[in-house]
Amino acid sequence: MGLSVKHLLGIKELNVQDIELIFQTADNFKQVLQRSIKKVPTLRDTTVANVFFENSTRTRLSFELAEKRLGADVVNFSASGSSVSKGETLVDTVNNLLAMKVDMIVMRHSASGSPWFLSRHVDACIINAGDGINEHPTQALLDAYSIREKMGSLKGKRIAILGDIMHSRVALSNIYCLNKLGAEVTVSGPPTLIPKHIEDLGVRVEYNVKKALEWCDVANVLRIQLERQHKPLFSTLREYALYYGVNKQMLDSLEKKIIIMHPGPINRGVEINSDVADSKQSIILGQVENGVAIRMAVIYLLSGKREISE
Ligand code: CP
Repeated sequence: MGLSVKHLLGIKELNVQDIELIFQTADNFKQVLQRSIKKVPTLRDTTVANVFFENSTRTRLSFELAEKRLGADVVNFSASGSSVSKGETLVDTVNNLLAMKVDMIVMRHSASGSPWFLSRHVDACIINAGDGINEHPTQALLDAYSIREKMGSLKGKRIAILGDIMHSRVALSNIYCLNKLGAEVTVSGPPTLIPKHIEDLGVRVEYNVKKALEWCDVANVLRIQLERQHKPLFSTLREYALYYGVNKQMLDSLEKKIIIMHPGPINRGVEINSDVADSKQSIILGQVENGVAIRMAVIYLLSGKREISE
């Protein structure tokens, strides 16, 4: 029993058995992470490079912790301060790391499709930690795992993804993952931030955020990705907050207690108010906690190891 893929490039390439195997493996690692000694020596003969061409807090640290808790050797590369500024290509950069006997590459890049490109031009296992507006597979896995933890099976559960769907790799990976696991998905936000024909991916569109909240069991609230918007797609952040932001009054007016999620980083007072982000209904920090177990599972399964050594 192993994964059907050699790399983790996107959720699109995974099948349901892959996702369930990752979840079951993460369950074991989550138990390891509750112990006083949170490490296993499973990957002590493996070296992983975290290659980040874009900023990150959660994903980079979560991968680094996952690798170290599996006993791997870890090197971290950031494009800023590297020889990329002298014109070195992505493939040359990674081939130089591989020459130093690195076994696996975890990469984040602003160019959509770059992990796929790299996987075809270098001889190493590639794990996508977010590529442009395409996919963020480990985020979708930890999101679905966190819903499973709270609600049991994902089958038939109603998940609303709110905000900047157009520029969000989290949205696309979540849609693929939730569909594969049998959940129902609605996307909601300003029409200018919802891609045309997104219904073709098997989701509903609801432009009224309040109605989306009334419909769902779980709301995954996304950040406005201003860094990816080259022209304004709504008037002001203040107006966005007024018409599309999630606030406590909205939550309290619903007939049921829904679960609130956010992949981070949060823009408090824009897409979500503090009294929602920090409420009892929020599982935002639980998502972050689960991220380490999910990333341990992904690295372990892609490494081809067969035993979680004690
Ligand atoms: N959720 C997420 O990808 O956060 P970072 O950009 O901080 O890694």
